[in-house]
Amino acid sequence: MTPIIVANWKMNPKTFKQAELLFANLAKQFFLASKADIVICPPMIFLPVLKSKAPQLKNFFWGAQNCHWERFGAYTGEISADLLKNAGCRYVIIGHSERREYLKETDEMINWKIQAAFKAGLRSILCVGEKEGEEMALTVEKQIRSGLKNVSSDAAKNLLIAYEPVWAIGSGQPCSPDDAMGAALFIKRVLTNLYDRRLAEEIKIIYGGSVDVQNAAAYFIEAKMDGLLVGGVSLMAKEFGRILKSIQQLYP
Ligand code: PGA
Repeated sequence: MTPIIVANWKMNPKTFKQAELLFANLAKQFFLASKADIVICPPMIFLPVLKSKAPQLKNFFWGAQNCHWERFGAYTGEISADLLKNAGCRYVIIGHSERREYLKETDEMINWKIQAAFKAGLRSILCVGEKEGEEMALTVEKQIRSGLKNVSSDAAKNLLIAYEPVWAIGSGQPCSPDDAMGAALFIKRVLTNLYDRRLAEEIKIIYGGSVDVQNAAAYFIEAKMDGLLVGGVSLMAKEFGRILKSIQQLYP
């Protein structure tokens, strides 16, 4: 399976100038990971400008950090999956814990968004993960079952699941590769029950939460993840490049 590294810039950086500089510096590192797919998810307002500077690489894609579930209409401030697709996105992150927490996104809304993303031809990256004190299996199973309610096998083929324990995000306290592997195996089991084994095997499981240069490779080697969702470190071009390099070495 082709590994995938997704960069989530969140609401950063502060200016177009900084965004252009950051992207230019990140793009210089892309050659370090010819064996992986690389997805950059900037704030959407930057996309048209950055797109004009994007390298023509087969393994490079744009992603969005959210979408709305309706195709168009009176939804002030929202961006539809169709608009994202039109703007050049291939991926969309759905159900990030920051949106669940600060914007009160529910599993039901997340489910609608996944359906909308599929109809628009986008690949969804569904984020799941427990909060501090919650039991991983209980939370994750509920999030997956509700998030994928009535999602067809065809749509599920376009799906990735990001296991992101909330307590690990931006905290500098990453999940141990051992626990991440346990979560990935559990997610595969839930997917097998929802669909079938073959489809469950096809769906990539990626890890996110305080990924850095030191721990990135371990999520592939020890936790058998198919990819990473990188927040903070995706704003540091050199470090991000070192993550790409450490992954490349695993895929001769
Ligand atoms: P982090 O963020 O790498 O800064 O912990 C990950 C994420 O929120 O996707």
